[in-house]
Amino acid sequence: MRVVLMMVSTINGRITKGTTSVDIQEWASGEDQELFYGTLKKQKLVVMGSKTYDAARDFMEFRPGQLRVVMTRTPKRYGKHVRPGQLEFTSATAQKLVEEYAKKGYTQLFLVGGGEINALFFKAKLIDEILLTIEPFIFGNGKSLIAEGSFEEKFKLASVKKLNKRGTLLLKYVR
Ligand SMILES: NC(=O)c1ccc[n+]([C@@H]2O[C@H](COP(=O)([O-])OP(=O)(O)OC[C@H]3O[C@@H](n4cnc5c(N)ncnc54)[C@H](OP(=O)(O)O)[C@@H]3O)[C@@H](O)[C@H]2O)c1
Repeated sequence: MRVVLMMVSTINGRITKGTTSVDIQEWASGEDQELFYGTLKKQKLVVMGSKTYDAARDFMEFRPGQLRVVMTRTPKRYGKHVRPGQLEFTSATAQKLVEEYAKKGYTQLFLVGGGEINALFFKAKLIDEILLTIEPFIFGNGKSLIAEGSFEEKFKLASVKKLNKRGTLLLKYVR
């Protein structure tokens, strides 16, 4: 299973101010959002943390043939949210989750954060590719791209693309 992480960050590695559920739309560029939603649309398996789900659920678009899996320590809490074939909740570890969905025939897992869940995947050395948009913007308070933890790994820069005149950059890293 190939695991691809896609995120948008400020220059200083923040992924949200954490003040409202939609603050990303205030600072992420239109070019990034278009690219993100265009890439998301093509994915069969999308994985996220429960806090990301909580922040995005009101404007999530479900489509046939695309399964979203939300990682939470208490799947029961989300019992009423389950949509067979489109939305599942799991307390499995990142490793188990990858193994389980590989067995079901999925070949790519599209990871969309947030920082806590990203850290779990980095700890387990499961990330094959990182698509990271850097917006030319800084704010001090908020959440980090990858939550703190004891892990380290080298990646290689595969490509850089400037997405607009302000200098939003799309960086692609591979193992
Ligand atoms: N800029 C971007 O590209 C981007 C992308 C994604 C998200 N975001 C933003 O980031 C914020 C959320 O990020 P976050 O780091 O706070 O949270 P998160 O990673 O989305 O979710 C954290 C949750 O994951 C669950 N979890 C943690 N460890 C687990 C484990 N070992 N097994 C199973 N579940 C586990 C827990 O859920 P329970 O508490 O339910 O147990 C935890 O509260 C949101 O505001 C969102 O808008 C930004």
